[in-house]
Amino acid sequence: MISIREWRANSSLDRLDCDLLLKHLLNCSRSVIAASPEKLLVEADIAQLENWKKRRIAGEPIAYILGKKEFWGLNFFVDDNVLVPRPETELLVELAERCIRDGQSILELGTGCGAVAIALVQELASKGKNVSLTATDVSPEALKICKRNLENHNIKIRLFESNWFSNISGSFDMIISNPPYIENGNPHLLALGSEPAVALVSGDDGLDAIREIIKYSSTHIKNDGYLILEHGCEQGTKVQRLFKRAGFSNVSTEKDLGGRDRVTLGKMDH
Ligand SMILES: C[S@@+](CC[C@H](N)C(=O)[O-])C[C@H]1O[C@@H](n2cnc3c(N)ncnc32)[C@H](O)[C@@H]1O
Repeated sequence: MISIREWRANSSLDRLDCDLLLKHLLNCSRSVIAASPEKLLVEADIAQLENWKKRRIAGEPIAYILGKKEFWGLNFFVDDNVLVPRPETELLVELAERCIRDGQSILELGTGCGAVAIALVQELASKGKNVSLTATDVSPEALKICKRNLENHNIKIRLFESNWFSNISGSFDMIISNPPYIENGNPHLLALGSEPAVALVSGDDGLDAIREIIKYSSTHIKNDGYLILEHGCEQGTKVQRLFKRAGFSNVSTEKDLGGRDRVTLGKMDH
């Protein structure tokens, strides 16, 4: 047996990762871990921690090891079939919440684990706004994770498989998406190797998905409805041009908390 302090000292992981793994293993808070450095770990605990440590050192996101990720203050199940929700995507939820009205309809394309859809429905409900939300993804495995999260948060939405608009009929007051937007061969992809390529990569300039969504959105958005898309921090100008060419007005790009262009939105005037 060794103590928490000894395992931590020899783990070669940073403090936060150590704490998250210990917290998960011992099912207690970080403050309990901090207050019990001499607590002894039994052999089975050490074996489990060593296994997680190896995966972490090999580059696997801590969220996949823990099987969960916090987004918008809520916990979501994740595995390697879905993108780990990022804090910058909370801007998409914020803008959607600001632009939608009670009783309206929203379509989310590429929902992954469902974090955006669930956070948005919960946030709107807490402000007394009820919306009907439809969420889709091309990945059946992602839809299974999304379904688990919907059940866990007791949220009712329409959820089905669709390759962007292939199975979508009708029109909506708002379409939102955080589509894949990294270009083929981008060196940052090396560090993202555990996450599904379908959630990350989109053609030679990273804009294939965004072009397709903008092109077909105009036929699925009601008059005065909004299209709101997350994109890469260097894609704002190009994405704005695509919105304007497709007939959207009031086009603007909003910055994330790091001060980088992150989400573009526009209004449809048919
Ligand atoms: C960047 S991830 C976003 C996931 C989640 N909405 C979030 O913000 O954390 C993009 C999502 O789009 C989905 N996707 C990729 N290609 C698609 C397509 N052709 N049609 C529908 N969804 C697609 C991926 O499976 C993935 O879940």
